[in-house]
Amino acid sequence: MNIREATRDDAGLLADMLVEAVNWSSEGKKQSRRRVLSAPGTAHYIAGWPREDDLGVVAEADGQRLGAAWLRFFPPEKPGYGFVAADVPELTIGVAARWRGQGVGRALLRAVEERATSGGIRRISLSVERKNFARKLYLAAGYEVVYAASPDSDTMVKVL
Ligand SMILES: CC(C)(COP(=O)(O)OP(=O)(O)OC[C@H]1O[C@@H](n2cnc3c(N)ncnc32)[C@H](O)[C@@H]1OP(=O)(O)O)[C@@H](O)C(=O)NCCC(=O)NCCS
Repeated sequence: MNIREATRDDAGLLADMLVEAVNWSSEGKKQSRRRVLSAPGTAHYIAGWPREDDLGVVAEADGQRLGAAWLRFFPPEKPGYGFVAADVPELTIGVAARWRGQGVGRALLRAVEERATSGGIRRISLSVERKNFARKLYLAAGYEVVYAASPDSDTMVKVL
């Protein structure tokens, strides 16, 4: 597996991974790709990719893209679900279903954090639903719950 920087050409993959992140639960109704990419609360995680201050990574193996993780800054007037401050970018991460559980997510997380550190970013935030096992991955990687964003989800922050 190789991890490289995400480029303009990865916009479609990142959109797919955003759809995976929104639809992480096997229960309940899935949101369509079209809806995820048009609803204001989700579309802004990827709209206009890449913005100047976006930072992302893609995992590849044998020419196939396995997943992606990226960071985006949000303004306080249009915050993401995991917003804590305008200078703290929010993480989105997704691995294509058939590649999960093989260490790709953990490697993507580490790679995006390394690049963030090199770019002078001091903290990363995210929002995760409590039932999503991704929460355990984040806890193991050093993210801490800073508040309960809703009865079902937490906002977490890692100080790099
Ligand atoms: C969350 C996600 C990115 C993790 O990527 P991954 O490649 O599956 O994760 P990894 O293989 O690196 O595993 C990371 C940890 O999660 C654990 N894990 C993996 N699959 C699991 C599963 N189905 N159930 C419980 N734990 C699991 C692993 O055991 C590992 O922990 P460990 O090393 O301490 O055992 C991926 O599963 C995914 O894309 N999920 C759907 C999108 C999503 O939920 N995004 C996050 C929204 S907040």
